Amino acid sequence: MAKKKDKENKWVYVKDSGIHGRGVFAKRKIPKETKIMEYFGERISKEESNRRGTEQMEMAAKDDSVGAVYIFDLNKKWDIDGNVPENIARYANHSCEENCEAFNEDDRIFYYSSRSIQKNEEILIDYGYALEHFVDHPCCCGTKKCVGFILAKDDRKKLKKMRNGKKAKSVVKDKKKKKKNKKAD
Ligand SMILES: C[S@@+](CC[C@H](N)C(=O)[O-])C[C@H]1O[C@@H](n2cnc3c(N)ncnc32)[C@H](O)[C@@H]1O
Ligand SMILES: [Zn+2]
Repeated sequence: MAKKKDKENKWVYVKDSGIHGRGVFAKRKIPKETKIMEYFGERISKEESNRRGTEQMEMAAKDDSVGAVYIFDLNKKWDIDGNVPENIARYANHSCEENCEAFNEDDRIFYYSSRSIQKNEEILIDYGYALEHFVDHPCCCGTKKCVGFILAKDDRKKLKKMRNGKKAKSVVKDKKKKKKNKKAD
């Protein structure tokens, strides 16, 4: 019953997104800290989650419009595979400047607004992916804060530091090259 109701969610609707595929958008102004929707799905073991995750990543690699990940980490034992029709929350895209946050309430996942959201604004969350997998998940959120990959906030800082290190090295090399070239002239 609750699942049927969510298809006609009071706060949000689904349409094409400028970030990726389909996205979730606000039907009306959503006040800060509003419970917007539940992330429905099938409860699966970590082992099954890994198997389905790899399978989905392979499908997404062949077709850009297909989402790579619909699995939500629920607890130490279980994940939720949200790739089911009644789960509109599966269409929420990631942004490096999110406006919503997911909370685990008695092993159910709910999305809450973390600030006030305007009518027709896209519902965006921080997927919180770890740094070790970042190359597999480029980010197209287009915000000023975007680091180019779907990464958890803390890991975004680490990536920036790693990149700054590389940049500094190459600048030094470039300067040396320029000096050498000058001497040769
Ligand atoms: C839960 S789905 C989100 C809904 C997806 N847009 C769709 O139409 O199925 C997650 C997948 O959407 C894509 N995605 C979400 N946020 C993205 C972003 N900021 N940049 C690029 N792709 C994104 C990735 O393929 C990700 O694995
Ligand atoms: Zn981004």
